[in-house]
Amino acid sequence: MAISHIAPERNLSLELVRVTEAAAIAASRWVGRGDKNAADGAAVDAMREFIASVRMDGLVVIGEGEKDEAPMLYNGERVGDGNPPHVDIAVDPIDGTTLTSLGRGGAVAVIAIAEAGAMFNPGPCVYMEKLAVGPEARGHVSLELSITENIKAVAKAKSIPVTEVIAIVLDRPRHQEIIDEIREAGARVHLIGDGDVAGAIATAWPESDADILFGVGGTPEGVIAAAALAGMGGEIQGRLYPRNEEERSAALALGYNLDQILITEDLCGGEHSFFSATGITDGDLLRGVHHLSKGVRTQSLITRSSSGTVRFVDTYHAFGRHN
Ligand code: FBP
Repeated sequence: MAISHIAPERNLSLELVRVTEAAAIAASRWVGRGDKNAADGAAVDAMREFIASVRMDGLVVIGEGEKDEAPMLYNGERVGDGNPPHVDIAVDPIDGTTLTSLGRGGAVAVIAIAEAGAMFNPGPCVYMEKLAVGPEARGHVSLELSITENIKAVAKAKSIPVTEVIAIVLDRPRHQEIIDEIREAGARVHLIGDGDVAGAIATAWPESDADILFGVGGTPEGVIAAAALAGMGGEIQGRLYPRNEEERSAALALGYNLDQILITEDLCGGEHSFFSATGITDGDLLRGVHHLSKGVRTQSLITRSSSGTVRFVDTYHAFGRHN
């Protein structure tokens, strides 16, 4: 049943924020310890504990992998307290596991929820090409256009010169051609070490300098970013990007169309989607978890697609008390 038929006024992101706060706090104890698996495990445990209290019957569409590899939050697991609404869930307890383990900025804990059946299931497709923009450039860009054409389109839509356009790109050797073309077009590149969910969101946040995100990144992160951008009025497009012949054959055998440009609604559709991100380490978008003498401070960003509401939630969590 659609969320609107259950409780039209309910904003699930106000409950989801507790889930990402818990994951971020748990992960924060592992910041800089050089052990990304331990950080991820702590975030998964915390997320799962808190997700159980949310009133929903949720199906994990994007989780920690297949059941035999991931004891918790695995793809296909049902989470929530079991009551309607029926929803699809995508989790990334840490987007930026390496950032967390190395004590670098920009790691976040994220979760997205949409009506049942409205979320893209990436199956065997680990990567996709991505293009993300904020509300002003929505509808003016396309993965069918060249990098240069997209940059010009963003500049025009935002009424800024091309020289002022800032493109976010994951710092990977595979992106060298994209980086070169952005610079040749006259725009600027902002390289990020990891974390393209936050990178995509930044294109839609007016206080950020980012205008557009290009490059190949995780498909799960693309779906999660779609939920956020749906709430912020931005846009993300993706095209599946198999890493090798084996992945290509597996995807084709399962009926995936590798040429299709997936738009925001394909990745996370429906009328009601919700998103929550909590900073683990300080980043451009969100402050990370800060440990104080008697408690912990967190900062989160939550969105709701039907209303277009974007909230920043600053929370003080007292030690030794229930969250
Ligand atoms: P993890 O936290 O799972 O390591 O993901 C970080 C990330 O940077 C994502 O934000 C991004 O989509 C993906 O990795 C890119 O993959 P790769 O590091 O293989 O280029």
